[in-house]
Amino acid sequence: MMASQIDSMNETFYQEVKAGLQSRQKKLPSKYFYDATGDQLFQQIMDLPEYYPSRCEREIFLHQTAALAQAIQADQGNFDLIELGAGDGSKTFHLLQFLCRQKYAFSYLPIDISGNILNELEGVFKQHLKGYTIHTIQGEYLNGLKKAASNADKRKVVLFLGANIGNFEPADALVFCRQVRRLLAPGDLFLVGFDLKKHPAVIKAAYDDQQGITRLFNLNLLNRMNADLGAGFSLDQFDHYCSYDPITGACKSYLVALADQEVSFPTYKIKLQAGESIWTEISQKYSLQEITVLAEYAGFKQLQVITDSKGWFANVIWSI
Ligand code: AVI
Repeated sequence: MMASQIDSMNETFYQEVKAGLQSRQKKLPSKYFYDATGDQLFQQIMDLPEYYPSRCEREIFLHQTAALAQAIQADQGNFDLIELGAGDGSKTFHLLQFLCRQKYAFSYLPIDISGNILNELEGVFKQHLKGYTIHTIQGEYLNGLKKAASNADKRKVVLFLGANIGNFEPADALVFCRQVRRLLAPGDLFLVGFDLKKHPAVIKAAYDDQQGITRLFNLNLLNRMNADLGAGFSLDQFDHYCSYDPITGACKSYLVALADQEVSFPTYKIKLQAGESIWTEISQKYSLQEITVLAEYAGFKQLQVITDSKGWFANVIWSI
């Protein structure tokens, strides 16, 4: 593949990869995990016995639905329920069903980068939640939220579930929360899902599963660079490694080079030494106290914290 064959869709990907691989500590943005194969692997990860975050949050949405509805003040009149990175919306679905049964007035506005997943979501919604409005928005979190906010005069309840906030470094999570806050008005709410600090071995196992699905998920990034950017990575020359630091709460994934090697891209080459790591993802874990501090620094007031039965995951509700 020649540089001129990289289409405009992949131009940003190309530039971000280049900057990441040419920096002193090589790194790659984790948002690029999610091509069609990556989406499928992530679905498999969510079903793994070791990967608890999805199950914990699902438990909250399934068994504490009334508490969630009350926390988002669903009985306070018509509102827009906007979901950042909605995915297949399966956890949210429990809440939506509850809101429908209680005859609360709302519209659902899921935002996702994947048009496919939004089409599926719209199909399921229309089949099961008749009489309610769904308005899908394809795009990145903040642009999608801007669109959703621009044509709304209703109260907004913004959902950011799945511990996606953990994929930001803590300083970036703060910036992101401030950006969301700026797009909200008095009366609006922000509901965020956080994975909590717990026994380090539990966390480590969730990102280094026995079946090796997380390994494949991480290595798929190399496949994607080969396919979309014309890179020449050999997958058998890399391994998956993850570390968890219980003090900082940073769970980090890396691709480790197994031998000295040179990898070609259409316009440049990178060198890797045996044992050198490319940092591919952070999955930050928080204490309840750290969440409260984040809310405060971002300019939110924390109204409620709802945790699962193990106390491993928290859905928090913030107002501005
Ligand atoms: C999407 N995100 C919240 C997941 C996480 O836990 O950080 C992605 C993931 N990476 C490895 N396993 C799951």
